[in-house]
Amino acid sequence: MREANPGTIYLKDYSAPAFLINRTELHFELGEEHTIVHSRLHLLRSPEHAGEPPLVLQGQELELLEVAIDRDVLVEDAYSVDEDTLVIDKLPEQCVLSVKTRIRPQDNSSLEGLYKSHTMFCTQCEAEGFRKITYYLDRPDVMSVFTVTITADPVRYPVLLSNGNLLEDRTLDDGRRQVLWHDPFPKPCYLFALVAGDLECVEDQFTTASGREVCLRLYVEAKDLGKCEHAMGSLQRSMRWDEEVYGRMYDLDIFNIVAVDDFNMGAMENKSLNIFNTSCVLCDPNITTDRGYQRVEAIVAHEYFHNWSGNRVTCRDWFQLSLKEGFTVFRDAEFSADVGSRTVKRVEDVTLLRTAQFAEDAGPMAHPVRPEAYIEINNFYTLTVYEKGAEVVRMIHTLLGAEDFRRGSDLYFQRHDGQAVTCEDFVRAMEDASGVDLGQFRRWYSQAGTPLLRVRDSYDEDAQTYVLEVSQSCPPTPGQPGKQPFVIPLAMGLLGDAGNLPLRLAGEEPDAETADNTHRVLVVDQAQQRFEFVGVGERPVPSLLRGFSAPVRLDYPFSRVALCQLMSRDDDGFVRWDSAQALATQVIGDVQAQLAAGEAPQVDALLLEACASLLEDESLEHAMVAEMLTLPGENYLAELCEEGVADVDLIHAARAAVQAALGVGCRELLLRRYQALSSARPYVAEGDEIGRRALRNLCLDYLACADAAHLDMARAQYQAADNLTERLAALRCLACYGGEGDWAAPLQAFYEDWQDETLAINHWLTLQATMPDAGVLDRVRTLMAHPAFDLRNPNKVRALVGAFAGQNPVHFHREDGAGYALLGEVVEKLNASNPQIAARLLTPLTRWRRYRGRGEAMCAELERLAALPGLSPDVYELVSKSLS
Ligand code: PHE
Ligand code: ZN
Repeated sequence: MREANPGTIYLKDYSAPAFLINRTELHFELGEEHTIVHSRLHLLRSPEHAGEPPLVLQGQELELLEVAIDRDVLVEDAYSVDEDTLVIDKLPEQCVLSVKTRIRPQDNSSLEGLYKSHTMFCTQCEAEGFRKITYYLDRPDVMSVFTVTITADPVRYPVLLSNGNLLEDRTLDDGRRQVLWHDPFPKPCYLFALVAGDLECVEDQFTTASGREVCLRLYVEAKDLGKCEHAMGSLQRSMRWDEEVYGRMYDLDIFNIVAVDDFNMGAMENKSLNIFNTSCVLCDPNITTDRGYQRVEAIVAHEYFHNWSGNRVTCRDWFQLSLKEGFTVFRDAEFSADVGSRTVKRVEDVTLLRTAQFAEDAGPMAHPVRPEAYIEINNFYTLTVYEKGAEVVRMIHTLLGAEDFRRGSDLYFQRHDGQAVTCEDFVRAMEDASGVDLGQFRRWYSQAGTPLLRVRDSYDEDAQTYVLEVSQSCPPTPGQPGKQPFVIPLAMGLLGDAGNLPLRLAGEEPDAETADNTHRVLVVDQAQQRFEFVGVGERPVPSLLRGFSAPVRLDYPFSRVALCQLMSRDDDGFVRWDSAQALATQVIGDVQAQLAAGEAPQVDALLLEACASLLEDESLEHAMVAEMLTLPGENYLAELCEEGVADVDLIHAARAAVQAALGVGCRELLLRRYQALSSARPYVAEGDEIGRRALRNLCLDYLACADAAHLDMARAQYQAADNLTERLAALRCLACYGGEGDWAAPLQAFYEDWQDETLAINHWLTLQATMPDAGVLDRVRTLMAHPAFDLRNPNKVRALVGAFAGQNPVHFHREDGAGYALLGEVVEKLNASNPQIAARLLTPLTRWRRYRGRGEAMCAELERLAALPGLSPDVYELVSKSLS
């Protein structure tokens, strides 16, 4: 492990590689004790580099056995090795470098490089894992054609996979099997993959628009063969979508997906050999929730889309990570919107962004979409790079329009195919194809922080004019005290008594009647700006930031009546939902103030009426009603508070009081809706049915929250359910609103029924970590010793400890600091075995400035961690930045 005070890497220090590797030949001898890796790198000194720079290859945790140049074995003083590098001086301009190393995948708990998951060998090389396999120029701008030989015991490892095409498959004299894979597309080493194991596969096919027959295979353990159908269908749908929407075709005859249980992230886009966390690919009604089905579809699409946005065109350096991730998240979000409900998808994404990415932007790890410095790149696979990065691409789409955006993406792919490029190259292609100047827009890539958009308005009845005064600002972030104005597309409309009003800005032709003149995008690009609408016959309610057209906080003093109007009548589904959230947020705020003053909670009748009419409205999409009736989450409410103000107990109590009041007030409607939404049909994970279950479960949740008498309904639902979504919703009601007598037996029963299904049991762990009862922390500790838990498996760590720290604010922030101590202990253990997961788990502690009366205890835990010997760069970076 690398240790103490690791250095910072800066974007400004980037320089092109001194050597190229035209071809890479790898030979793996997979063994039970160790693995021998023999590499042959066809090196060429870069023509751009003058002089004779030494070759510096990265390598970690490797045992170097032999180095040779063009077949001449080097003596030991001809090169130098340390913990991180192999340096060779005076190389000829062109040569073949052979290196033999020994590695121990069996002992590799970091899940980077080559490691074992159960009995299977697999790899994870992004971002810098390849250096744990062999010495290499481990940087994305070194692209090479890979040829891979794998030698292994055919009984233990009947499946032997790597990237590209299978060229040879034979049995050696000693009985071992040897296969040869060749990937014709040059790629950086982070896209290399190898899998060896006893796997079964599901096979299907896809014919591209150009007539190529592609064989699609999904490799899983035999017991999971029945859980592949949804992912396979998702793959086929995304392949078609990318042809239709982006004109992107698949480029090889094979596309493989492998499912592994031990995986640090969701999935990985290795060329033609995607590797997935089992939780992101396997689906079964009994182990996957409705949301899980949608997540699998989105992630399968995401990884597939990387074949163009990431693989064919890759990143020059890791500061450009959002080039592939932001763009690909935008692509997968549009795919999900097209195959499902556009508004619901947007609502889900915005909820994540505003809850978690805004918090990141407001915390010590805040960084621009294109960061300028990092200590450990693994810490920069963030919501900012992914989700905010996708918002930046979405804004380009909004500013250019769909057609010019497509021209831009065509130009980008054509201009940079086979290259490793930068965010700047992406923006320039968009500009060149559209003629739109994105000069100032580029600040979205370089400035961190969430802009605040302040809007005030005035109406002049005599002149029939309506004015929006818009100003923008952005709070300071680490290293960036002041910010320049952003370009903010502000999609909007004006709501009048009888619907949306036609829009005409002062100075525009009166007859500029377009097909849709009730919607437009104002471009806010100065610190202060004024937009005057003329011919406005009545005082309107502004409908602002439609579709969440920019990742900003909106500040406009909406009255509650105005919010109700927008909620029930605006043209924009997102604004309708957002207005419901804003209304609920205001009402929860009232109740917080009342509770703080020792008064009994009083829930504004307007909210009650609004909820009642939503429940009565049969014309609305079920999923949308469910979203609109879902109260803003506790973490989101905390995020809205100023620093040092968020009071987790008060937020929880106020939110619960409002929910209970709505449950009481809408009882009849909720009961009626709950019954009407019952179904005798067997489970299908398809849009309308998912929406139906979401709304039905929401009704149950309100009812159970309002009155424990309704827990009988939860018990009945649990018994009748043929799927995890309904089971978990029922269990959650029992666990949240009942006593131990209500939940202990059903939780036990669930475990007994599903103990062989790891993925279902992970939901069981999460449920128990997020319960509100006082015993939760002790239960989490007990569960850490349960056979269902395993500290080496990231899914389990996230399901239990991650859920406790991230989704149970009241108990994580216990006043006695026991929640912080628990998290600290786990981080300390993982620091040694899996630093990447340790650092991720630590994130809730970095938000110490937010919480009233907790900062000191949170800092104390951070300081304890900071003082530990042998801190990984991953944890060191988070801890030190949080404390500075
Ligand atoms: N590149 C992967 C994705 O977003 C994420 C990932 C990063 C996976 C690092 C593993 C390790 O699609
Ligand atoms: Zn990705």
